[in-house]
Amino acid sequence: MKTSSKPKVGYISMLYLAAVSSLLAHVCSAVKREDFKTCEQSAFCNRHRVFAETMLKKTQSLDKGSVIPQTASPYSVLENSVSLDDHTLVASVQHSEEKVPLKFELSFMESGIVRIRAQEEVPLVPRFDDTQKLVLRQEGTALPYASPGSIELVTETIDRVITHTVSYLKGNTTFSVRMAESPWSLDYLIDNKPTIRLNTKGFFRFEYLRQKPASEEANTVSGEWEEKFKTWTDSKPNGPESFGMDISFSGFEHVYGIPEHSSPLSLKGTRGGDKNAYDQPYRLYNLDVFEYELDNPMALYGSIPFMVAHNANSTVGVFWMNAAETWIDVTHEKSSTLGSLFSRGSTKKVPAVNTHWVSESGVMDVFLLPGPNTADVYRQYAELVEPTPLPRAFSLGYHQCRWNYIDQEDVLSVSSKLEEHSIPYDVIWLDIEHTDGKRYFTWDTAKFPDPVAMQNELARSGHKLVNVVDPHIKHDSAYQIWKEASESGYFVKNREGTEDFQGWCWPGDSNWVDYLNPDACKWISKQFHIDHYNQSTENLFIWNDMNEPSVFNGPEITMDKDARHHGGWEHRDVHNIFGMLYHKATADGLRTRESPNKRPFVLSRAYFAGSQRYGAIWTGDNTAEWSHLQASIPMVLSNNIAGMHFIGADVGGFFGNPDQKLLTRWYQLGIWYPFFRAHAHIDTKRREPWLLSEPYLSYIRDAIRERYRLLPFWYTLFREASLTGMPLVRPMWIEFPSETKLFAEQDTFMVGSAIMVVPATDSNTDQAIDVAFPSQENWYDIKTHTSYIGPSKRQFSVDLSTTLVFARGGSVIVTRERHRSSSDLMKRDPFTIYVYVGRNGTASGRLYVDDGDTYDYEQGAFIERELSFSGAKLASRPSTLTKDTPAYQDYLKKMANVRVERLVVVGLRNRLTKAIVAESGVTREIELSYKGAANDAECVVRDPAVHIGEDWEINFV
Ligand code: NOJ
Repeated sequence: MKTSSKPKVGYISMLYLAAVSSLLAHVCSAVKREDFKTCEQSAFCNRHRVFAETMLKKTQSLDKGSVIPQTASPYSVLENSVSLDDHTLVASVQHSEEKVPLKFELSFMESGIVRIRAQEEVPLVPRFDDTQKLVLRQEGTALPYASPGSIELVTETIDRVITHTVSYLKGNTTFSVRMAESPWSLDYLIDNKPTIRLNTKGFFRFEYLRQKPASEEANTVSGEWEEKFKTWTDSKPNGPESFGMDISFSGFEHVYGIPEHSSPLSLKGTRGGDKNAYDQPYRLYNLDVFEYELDNPMALYGSIPFMVAHNANSTVGVFWMNAAETWIDVTHEKSSTLGSLFSRGSTKKVPAVNTHWVSESGVMDVFLLPGPNTADVYRQYAELVEPTPLPRAFSLGYHQCRWNYIDQEDVLSVSSKLEEHSIPYDVIWLDIEHTDGKRYFTWDTAKFPDPVAMQNELARSGHKLVNVVDPHIKHDSAYQIWKEASESGYFVKNREGTEDFQGWCWPGDSNWVDYLNPDACKWISKQFHIDHYNQSTENLFIWNDMNEPSVFNGPEITMDKDARHHGGWEHRDVHNIFGMLYHKATADGLRTRESPNKRPFVLSRAYFAGSQRYGAIWTGDNTAEWSHLQASIPMVLSNNIAGMHFIGADVGGFFGNPDQKLLTRWYQLGIWYPFFRAHAHIDTKRREPWLLSEPYLSYIRDAIRERYRLLPFWYTLFREASLTGMPLVRPMWIEFPSETKLFAEQDTFMVGSAIMVVPATDSNTDQAIDVAFPSQENWYDIKTHTSYIGPSKRQFSVDLSTTLVFARGGSVIVTRERHRSSSDLMKRDPFTIYVYVGRNGTASGRLYVDDGDTYDYEQGAFIERELSFSGAKLASRPSTLTKDTPAYQDYLKKMANVRVERLVVVGLRNRLTKAIVAESGVTREIELSYKGAANDAECVVRDPAVHIGEDWEINFV
């Protein structure tokens, strides 16, 4: 007899009450680890880990000197099953005893990406394979595969093993994949060097779909046909269907990415050997983890199965595209044995990072990204999942949030207080309490009697409102949203597929719209339109919270894995993309609510690879502690490494009350998060900036203003990311790829390639901080312009007024320096240009501007300038992407009066006297003035008055 997965009603309310009261309670206890599975408690993870142990033992005695890896793997390629079809090599692989042939497809894409797909040749029941449609670019339109003629297949015997090598020549690089028949393994060789290696440890294991054995035999292997966790039972209708494989990065010592975890940037080992290794694998399973712990591989709210490996010569990546629960073990091998292709018989020792990936269901679909450099890897990754699109410009400003602003008056008073204290902000947020009893899309009319008037009042000074709209729908037949969804059959179903899945969340008894159902998505999108969302205006934007989904009375606080989605799919198959699909439906709704369409802004808590297309995310419920301030850096960087660029942590910490020092430091760091929002738990003391005493208030004001000053720089960075996929905030190794000492650095980071931030995150706020200036380059303190020459180390004594931020010599940074109360009001403001002269006397940078709201930039309505300084001359030229279209001309006209009001050149070697400004055939002379400690540190051209949309030159003589 099956045990019900639902606890009894009384228990439910107790659980709910417990969840709510513990959420409301004041904090500082730690995560309830027992609420979440360990690998041993997750049956498939455990089976694969045990299998891997067996393989390791068996393999130890085998010959390590051969070119082709010798393992005990029971899988081999079936004789005569290999063929090359256009860009795809097809082979049948089979377990020596199980005799269920697996179809392997190995395809080359134009960029050198190799895609490997595997599943049963004839699966007993279909495996979920729509992840590719929902995750890959443009929702699955054809990927750019290599042309058939560019690929070559060679079959030969190496070390007595038959191998099939597919080679693809691109430019000067040869990409080849060598598949060994028996045991089956695969080496991705880049210029003949084995780099990414599959099944070379023998961990590949594919649990083929099978008939359920007679009931008494069914659970001989624990958890195969039914799995219990605490009071829940997962009915596992398809039995075991997981698969796992080892992927080794040969020649690498560092791997990064696979967010979301609270672990260090350079991923620690999870088993075997490493001193500080975790004892659990990294888990990817979107979960609402209350009071998450730091330095832990436990799953959090989002999952991006994308890992990047870097060494001094190259960067490569692996994208394991699977939407089910996934675990990843990581081990570091100081020197692994690698047979060389050329010196057969002899062996070479190289370091390696070995990883072991295991997913619970679906099709095995893995992409190997060959780089060879970081920019290549990001171009390749963006080719798969698209880069981050240009966000609404206002969303780069400061967001003022708390759970909850009580009523309309409170909202407007927070807004005017910020203005009164000359603190710019762009968005004020409303959490769940603004609704009528947690019925989203409604208002508590007693507290918000006139939401439209409130939104309009905010809009007068360019401010916006964000409302939370969670994915759980209160079960209430009088609630229109519930009624429509229920009548249309849009809710996720129970395991039998007969009734709507029911669970508990903020509103009590709730149902969840099924985002696997395209009609349900269209319907929910429409609810965000102005004519559907009561009392909404175009000034309202959305926050999707709890979309892992969080189900208070569910196993691991989420939905039962055997709940049914559209098409009959189990929740297990789609769990990790569920939140993203809601994020997408919300963004679609906002995008289409106006004609012509405007860019949406939606913040989501749950995410997957591809979520970057729909908006921002944040790192969830952190705590007001110094350790959480510190941990936010690797968390934000790891997400950027995995292509989720628009991310931030709650400034101030969600749980608990930060003291003034911590809050000040958090703002000073928070302005460097791509997404910059202060947020706080309902039970915390109010902490809006003006409530702090001096000098803290001034420090925070300075920090927020610094963010606003640099908004043109941030927006230009987003533009770059939208074209190249490059992270916005970058670990040092991305900018200094051969400086091995920086490979694990996570206390210092780069914003784009021009700014280095060395945040102070220690509770002792008067301290000495060591700064290492990398490379043979000048670095300039961004405030004082004092210069430092790299490579060098220097110790700085800091107090709360100091922030250590340096501009890299050789860069040009564009700012706007007039104080306004929102970014909207800065749109026609003049610019200031800073030239930070590099060691070789040159500098370059870019400025990108558009209307910040619409998609007109797709028609060319933008100004993008290349600013280059050399031979004591600064020139502004249009970027190569600038096209003379009618939309461009229109935009130029709108911006015709926007000028450069100041030019500052830092680090000019010779003292010069004047600037000759040439624009549109007219020249003018301007006297130079000098500022700064060293006489020649900073040379200022006051009001060169050149126009931002025009070509011009400024010569220093
Ligand atoms: C959980 C979110 O993480 C938090 O930011 C929010 O304030 C609460 N839910 C209430 O909506």
